[in-house]
Amino acid sequence: MSLLRRAPIRSSLAIALIALPAFAFAADSDGQSVYESVCIACHGSGVDNAPRFGDQRQWKPLIREGLNELVPAALRGIRKMPPKGGKPELSDEAVARAVIYMANAGGARFTDPGPEDVARWRKKADARRK
Ligand code: HEC
Repeated sequence: MSLLRRAPIRSSLAIALIALPAFAFAADSDGQSVYESVCIACHGSGVDNAPRFGDQRQWKPLIREGLNELVPAALRGIRKMPPKGGKPELSDEAVARAVIYMANAGGARFTDPGPEDVARWRKKADARRK
């Protein structure tokens, strides 16, 4: 009897362990997680005139510039924004996804980036002066 009662607990632990690597991966590259762990510090409230999350009026002209401007700016840094928001350990793709997440919250409809997009944005960031 007691053995039977313990079994479901053990299997749910097993499920949690299997799910863990997938979760850890999502936390690095999912745009929302990156935004909530890094970018929100400035873009949540608009520190130093950082375009505020969800503020469509502020995001509209940025969205019009397009991801080819916004992502390299976020990778390289722009004026008071440090490169990658001050977290150099973030992958280029994670930063790109966070940009897309923020832009979409501001009214854009950008889709997930492909590896060729990320490579192009990295090239542009390297060629760019801060
Ligand atoms: C330390 C504060 C800070 C953090 C953290 C930060 N930003 Fe920014 N960000 C700024 C500021 C300030 C600006 C406005 C720069 C300007 O135009 O003068 C900005 C502007 C931007 C822009 C608009 C760039 C353009 O072309 O005008 C994007 C896109 C952006 N940030 C993305 C991000 C992403 C993605 C993250 C998280 C990985 C992030 N930021 C984290 C301060 C920050």
